[in-house]
Amino acid sequence: MGMKKILVTGGCGYIGSHTIVDLVENGFDVISVDNNSRSNPRILEGVEKITGKKIKNYKVDLCNFDDTFAIFQENPDLSGIIHFAAYKSVGESVQRPLLYFENNLLSLINLLKSVEEFKIPHFVFSSSCTVYGNPAEIPVTERTPPKPAESPYGYTKQMGEQIINEFSKAVSTKCILLRYFNPVGAHPSSLIGELPISTPSNLVPVITQTAIGKLPKMEVHGDDYPTRDGSCIRDYVHVCDIAHAHTLGIQFLLNQQGPMKCEVFNLGTGNGVTVLEAIHAFEKISNLKLNYSIGPRRPGDVVAIYANYDLAKKKLGWQPHYSLEQMMATAWKWEQKLKVDEKFYNGKFSELN
Ligand code: WQD
Repeated sequence: MGMKKILVTGGCGYIGSHTIVDLVENGFDVISVDNNSRSNPRILEGVEKITGKKIKNYKVDLCNFDDTFAIFQENPDLSGIIHFAAYKSVGESVQRPLLYFENNLLSLINLLKSVEEFKIPHFVFSSSCTVYGNPAEIPVTERTPPKPAESPYGYTKQMGEQIINEFSKAVSTKCILLRYFNPVGAHPSSLIGELPISTPSNLVPVITQTAIGKLPKMEVHGDDYPTRDGSCIRDYVHVCDIAHAHTLGIQFLLNQQGPMKCEVFNLGTGNGVTVLEAIHAFEKISNLKLNYSIGPRRPGDVVAIYANYDLAKKKLGWQPHYSLEQMMATAWKWEQKLKVDEKFYNGKFSELN
């Protein structure tokens, strides 16, 4: 039996590239589709250095149905799809809701139309804890009722889950939804990592860019919340742990006999960490004093959220391994590597070949 072939959409992105590494290391044949509008194709050179495998990327916009369909015509033997490609900036989605609804939902629908036409047997969707909004109870389980999203980005994840749920009832494709908490860190080799396309808004890249001097200072968005130190609580999870969950998800689907309903899994460590604790963990591993001040709350922020991941542990056999210190250490090592490779990654993304 030949290697199973998986199509990773958004394969040049942060979680996509780490997932390709994990899939290849677990014996899968992988192709990528990424229009590089918000990613750097050179990240696949890092994937190749780690795995020894050159990954083919189709530079295609999934909002173009014909171009998307053509990928499936060329690869009718696909065993599964892992769908990461989407815009993901909460703030931008508030300013440009139609851009987000069109891009994130039209690309998904085009993909699912091709999955149906070619009877692709397995589909994994990149979802987010953002679907829970401000949960009444924590840790959240997969049965915690979703709340109204805090942003159009969050709505595209909720609507994406609903579209896939209904799709999976009508076809034989087996689907799962993976709800990430806060993916952070980088591959231990520092050959791949997060590449924010503009000034980052997420905590860990802001910390590392402040530490390396790309940002003059950073602000803690509020320390007057009802938490142990007043700052917000999140469930930070290493991107390599998230990546391996996708490999386990595909293997879970491959092992399912007969029809199954769409299943959803939380991917978090179950360990709630405050913003100040995250900053102090970074200061400890880097032996640096971070230049931060306490600023006002950020609108739309959830006070506290962290995961119950028992279901992923039980059904996928998933267990997060990286500690908070390792998350910070790999993120910091990657930021320092970027400083050295500045020119390599600095060109305009969509013009890089
Ligand atoms: C974490 C905490 C901030 C920056 C978002 C999306 C979610 C997912 C991950 C895509 C918050 C605080 C941050 C700073 C700060 N994205 N912070 N100063 O908001 O939990 O989740 O990114 O899937 O869907 O909603 O992550 O890293 O932006 O913020 O104090 O300069 O760090 O207020 O409490 P968030 P984040």
